[in-house]
Amino acid sequence: MDYNNIIQKAIEARELAYCPYSNFKVGAAVLFEDGEIYTGCNIENASYGATNCAERSAIFSAVSKGNRKLKVIALIGDTKEFTYPCGICRQVIGEFAEDKDTKIIIIKNKDEYILKTFEEIMPGAFTKKDLEN
Ligand code: THU
Repeated sequence: MDYNNIIQKAIEARELAYCPYSNFKVGAAVLFEDGEIYTGCNIENASYGATNCAERSAIFSAVSKGNRKLKVIALIGDTKEFTYPCGICRQVIGEFAEDKDTKIIIIKNKDEYILKTFEEIMPGAFTKKDLEN
């Protein structure tokens, strides 16, 4: 699969970040079963704990349109290094990941990224499967 489009969308989404407290912009883009690319940015709050990360903003947008199976998520932070998803976002990614092979694209810039699977970034995750027995 060509990841250029989803990477570009994540980079663009970062520009819309609302982060007056941390000044740390994050952008994310997701591909679910409907084939559309949904985007999200981090949205902070004066009550800091009410902040929403970029990954969850993007995922919630796609799920709100009826999607349930996450195939690819791309994200970019605001440093010269790679920004990985936080723990809460990993848990939310796990809720909708189509399978353990769901792709996580950790972007440094438009030319450099790391490709991981969900299993690699969250081995042994607790998911809805654990509630089935
Ligand atoms: N942030 C994200 O958007 N995603 C992450 O995975 C890590 C953290 C945001 C939350 C907050 O607005 C800022 O980065 C600093 O923590």
